[in-house]
Amino acid sequence: MCGIIGVTGSADALDILLDGLERLEYRGYDSAGVVLIDDEGISRVRIADGTHSVATLRKVTPEADHGQPAGIGHTRWATHGHPSERNAHPHLDCSGHVALVHNGIIENHAEIAAELVAAGHTLASDTDTEVLAHLIEDALKTGLSLTEAVRRVLRDVRGAFALGVVSMDDPELIVAARRVSPLIIGALGGQSFLASDIPALLERTRDLMVLDDDQIAELRPGSIVVTTIDGVVVTPPPLHVTWDVEAAQMGGFDDFMTKEIHEQPQAIADTLRGRVDADGRIVLDQLDLSDDDLRAITQVSVVACGSSFHAGLVAKYAFERWMRLPVEVDIASEFRYRDPVLHENALVVGVSQSGETVDTLQAMRKARESGAKVIVVSNVVDSSMAREAHGVLYTHAGPEVGVAATKTVVAQIVALELLGLRIAQVRGTLSADEIATELAALGSMGAIVAEAIARDDAVARVAAELADAREFFFLGRGTGYPTALEGALKLKEISYLHAEGYPGGELKHGPLAVIEPGCVVVAVATGGPLKEKMLSNVAEVKSRGATVVLVVDDGDALAAASGDYVLRVPAAPVLMAPIKDVVPLQQFAYHLARARGLDVDRPRNLAKTVTVE
Ligand code: AGP
Repeated sequence: MCGIIGVTGSADALDILLDGLERLEYRGYDSAGVVLIDDEGISRVRIADGTHSVATLRKVTPEADHGQPAGIGHTRWATHGHPSERNAHPHLDCSGHVALVHNGIIENHAEIAAELVAAGHTLASDTDTEVLAHLIEDALKTGLSLTEAVRRVLRDVRGAFALGVVSMDDPELIVAARRVSPLIIGALGGQSFLASDIPALLERTRDLMVLDDDQIAELRPGSIVVTTIDGVVVTPPPLHVTWDVEAAQMGGFDDFMTKEIHEQPQAIADTLRGRVDADGRIVLDQLDLSDDDLRAITQVSVVACGSSFHAGLVAKYAFERWMRLPVEVDIASEFRYRDPVLHENALVVGVSQSGETVDTLQAMRKARESGAKVIVVSNVVDSSMAREAHGVLYTHAGPEVGVAATKTVVAQIVALELLGLRIAQVRGTLSADEIATELAALGSMGAIVAEAIARDDAVARVAAELADAREFFFLGRGTGYPTALEGALKLKEISYLHAEGYPGGELKHGPLAVIEPGCVVVAVATGGPLKEKMLSNVAEVKSRGATVVLVVDDGDALAAASGDYVLRVPAAPVLMAPIKDVVPLQQFAYHLARARGLDVDRPRNLAKTVTVE
């Protein structure tokens, strides 16, 4: 997830770009850059300075500013290519006449890059984006206008994009285009603007338009023409923004946690994007493990902390079913101080949103020293874990600001399940048809999660009824067990209420003694072979006086009848069920925390990234 911005027709173009980039930093800050353009030429400044990228850019850009009236800018969340100045946007074509900024992923960039290099182009970065500048360069050479050149190129690329493109041939013009990635445009008083998100433009204009998929906008000073990819002129519906800037930074949501819960379908889609080729082969290109390496694996060990550990637990069920290999999932702080037995052909998978959690990092180091192959599932490109592991599998959830992990957890489950299917594919433990079925099911999870998120009001009503409760148990069996652990962790973390997560079958071995009237038991009783057994556990706690909240699949009236309160979710295959079952549990924790007047984004005593033991 990156942020882009553009302006034409302004005496303050540079200030508009820099102010906008500051407002877009929440979308990533691995690097930042601008291009300013006029009849004299293109001036480009790029900085890779981590969290200070935009601030440093502001310090150094005055030298490049000669009052150019147009420009484009970018703040980067690295996906392809390390966070570095070389990979920072804007990117140029070979001649330096075309510059562009991009948010999204060009899925077929590798094959395009090979063709471009064979045709004599020189690529100056490791990004997926740069190929677009060279494709546009070639299209311009055939005599097309910039708009037509962009239109032609977009027909040949796969993936997601929001683009801003400028060319020396027509320096007042910015061509903007969108597929999947968000893009808004607006014009006011002789100036025209584009940006990834509303906050970037709110100080300039409140009257905006949202570009639709496969629409292309020609921005000239004070005027905008929008066409479809086929060249038909269209008028996007106007959007008048009434929020203030602070609210707009959170996309109109009250807090980052809500925003990030709503971003889960996108996180799932972005994590799946480009990872299956036309032949149905799962492509995890930064894994750096050959098919022979994957075939040689004799055991899998997952190490992680907190919510990432729960994602690992979900993966265990899928890995064992699909790969038929022994799988262990360890809390990293335990693993690193044990003497774990790792065979020569062990695969150790670190799971970490930040890629910096010290216990997970040390556990991975220990595994590496013992000779195991070590990979990491990380949301942060070039994190310490990504640098130290043999291979990386990135989740593409975008930056997560709320301390409570939400969208990164579902993205981790998706990424781990892709890994499981890849290994099963190579080892032949699943047939091509079975792999295709599982991939299709994973592909449908975004829509299912969106449907679950839309039921927030129902969850809020249940939370309001239980606002005075102080003791919570979360129960689940099978993949419902890690879901229950995650539900309990979310509740503890942001509401400061006591919550325990347990496997349903374990209750009678002790915890049942604690159950009494006043206790709330949240039971995950969605589909799967263990649902009846789960409902028996529910009967056990009900008979001891607990109040029961049941998470059940749509249409399961029998299960629903066992609960005092019911949270309904759409059904999904059992190995993927946690991806959607966790949604009402996130919302339940959220509403209980808000009812207690707490800051859900910054809970007490906690930090987003835990780099101390
Ligand atoms: C989750 O809501 C927590 N904030 C926490 O448990 C987190 O998952 C854990 O600290 C691991 O972080 P990581 O994924 O960055 O390694």
